[in-house]
Parts: sequence; C-alpha cells; structure tokens
Amino acid sequence: AQLHYWAQKAGLEFFGAATDTPGFRERAPYPAQYSKYDEIFADPKEFGQTTPTNGQKWMFVEPEPGVFNFTEGDYVANLAKKTGKLLRCHALVWHSQLAPWVEQTKWTPDELKAVIKRHIFGVAEHYKGQCAHWDVVNEALDEDGSYRKSVFYNVLGEEYIKLSFQWAAEADPGTKLYYNDYGIERPASVKTAGAIRIVKLLKDAGIRIDGVGMQGHLHADNHPTMEDHVKTLTAYAELVPEVAFTELDVRIKVPVNESKLAWQKESYQFVAESCIRVPQCVGITLWDFYDPFSWIPHVFPDNGAALPWNEDWSKKPAYDGLIEIF
Ligand code: XIL
Repeated sequence: AQLHYWAQKAGLEFFGAATDTPGFRERAPYPAQYSKYDEIFADPKEFGQTTPTNGQKWMFVEPEPGVFNFTEGDYVANLAKKTGKLLRCHALVWHSQLAPWVEQTKWTPDELKAVIKRHIFGVAEHYKGQCAHWDVVNEALDEDGSYRKSVFYNVLGEEYIKLSFQWAAEADPGTKLYYNDYGIERPASVKTAGAIRIVKLLKDAGIRIDGVGMQGHLHADNHPTMEDHVKTLTAYAELVPEVAFTELDVRIKVPVNESKLAWQKESYQFVAESCIRVPQCVGITLWDFYDPFSWIPHVFPDNGAALPWNEDWSKKPAYDGLIEIF
C-alpha cells in the first residue's frame, strides 16, 4: 500500500512529502539507517510530489542584497526531478526566515518594491519551468485575521500582496500561484475570512491567483471535522481554481498513547476524505514524513509524533487510515 498511488486512484493529483537537504533536516547527526529515508522518499508510489521545507526561503536564496544562492533549493528541485515528483516551490514573500538585511534596512516604499521585485524575478526565473506550484505570499495574516505587521505590510500595505502575485505571474507564467497560510482550515475562523479577503483583493484587481494552500498543521486532540474541511475547501473553491493541503502534520501532546494516535488517525482521514470530496482539492503534502525530521518538537514544546513514520520506521495508525480513505 502506498499513499500517492492510492490517492491518485481516489482522484487526487498527488500525495507528497516535503523534504530538505540532509544538512537542513531537523536532526543531526542523522540516524544510521538514513538510506532508508531516501528509499521511502524516492518511491514514486509513496510520494508523487515534494516541497523544500527550507531551501528556497529568502535567507538562503538571497542572503545579501541581489546575491543569490540556490544550492539548497536546487538540491530538492533536482531530487524531485530525479524521483519523478511534482515540485511545490516555497515561499517567495514571507515575514519569517527572511534575510536579516530585509528587516534591518529602513526602506521607502519604492525601494522595498524594487527589493521584492528583484527577489521574485531572481528566484522565480531561476526555477522557471520546475515548479508546479509557487507559494507566492506565505502567512500574510495575523492571528486575528488582520494583516500581519511584517516589514512588507508596514512599508507597502496590502499593495505588496498584489505586486508579488503580479511579478510572480510575469516571472514564471506556467506555474500555479498560491496564497498559503496556517489556521485557515476551519470555516468560521477569522483567518479563513482573511484568506478569502486576500483572494478577492487579487481577483478584484484582475491579478491571477490559482490556489489557496492550507498548511494543515493540526493538533490530534482538537482537529477540524470532515464537515469543517469540506466547508472551507468549498468556500475557497468558489473563488479559485484549486486548493491543497500543503504542509500537513498532526501533532500529539506527549506522552503518546493509543487514544491520541486514534484522534490523529481521524484527523488525517478527515483531511484526505474532504480533499476527495471537493473536486478542486488537487492534493496533500506532508511536512516531511519521518518523525525525527519533523519541525514540531522544536517549535511546540511537549508536542511530537506528528508524522506517519515513527523513528524506528514503523508506521502510525494514521498511515493505514489514509490508505483506507483512498
Ligand atoms: C518550518 C521548517 O520546517 C523548519 O525547519 C524551520 O526551522 C521553520 O520553518 N509554515 C511554513 C513553513 O510555511 O515554511 C514552516 O517550515 C512551518 C510553518
């Protein structure tokens, strides 16, 4: 049983897993059985798509003004090519993991526009033709649904979102352009309303947006229901041609026990089932697939076990749960 194989049979375009250069993965030194990771990742029936978890972020690709370095991003792009996977490129304009110089300079609006434009063209033209999808703007919303007060917003207001999509469309016309965020999986959330506002902002200005990416960093013990997912997916699908779960993981508050693993399984299943039910949902991407490489324990203390593969390579109930749904 393999995830991408069965997901496609169920009508999805892909089931994928994000990954990164060995040096960028969360744990070093790596487990001795590291080649096992490469083997599972490469299996074209297991994963049909990938995303670099870090390598294409601003701090790595443009560490100094106008100085580009694609070493890390190219590693995953080449891996995708070698293993026959779709590539999701991530992320052009984001407040986090920015190169320090972007935040340390006091920009006039025109200067910052030129900085964003050079970045988008520099990166998107480099990857031109390789990215099935681009996360053009990532996490532009605050927890209360208003715009996040990033350097981009503080200097340019919502204009930066419009310009980013416009420039991305010019730099790589063949890729699907996405707005991507977390906490936009539930229909009644203020952030979901914010994401819809952003989509409308672009559409009203006649600027192309192809999709909304729900990151899907979920909690086992308080996850959206299937109906929640279907409602939210449908709301986006009324406005854009496609939607996707782009960074799925379902974290568990330690200690892990059987009932928490069962909630987690259900959460993964609701995501899969809703994506099957809503025709515009093109696919699901795990935010890596192997627990030792998960970002969760580093950012959410007392949480872990978020991914289908355990450290010892056994699989969690969530894995079979997904296969059941597909
Ligand atoms: C995370 C990476 O997985 C970590 O390795 C890194 O230290 C921080 O960023 N939303 C996103 C992703 O869009 O880029 C983030 O990835 C997780 C949350």
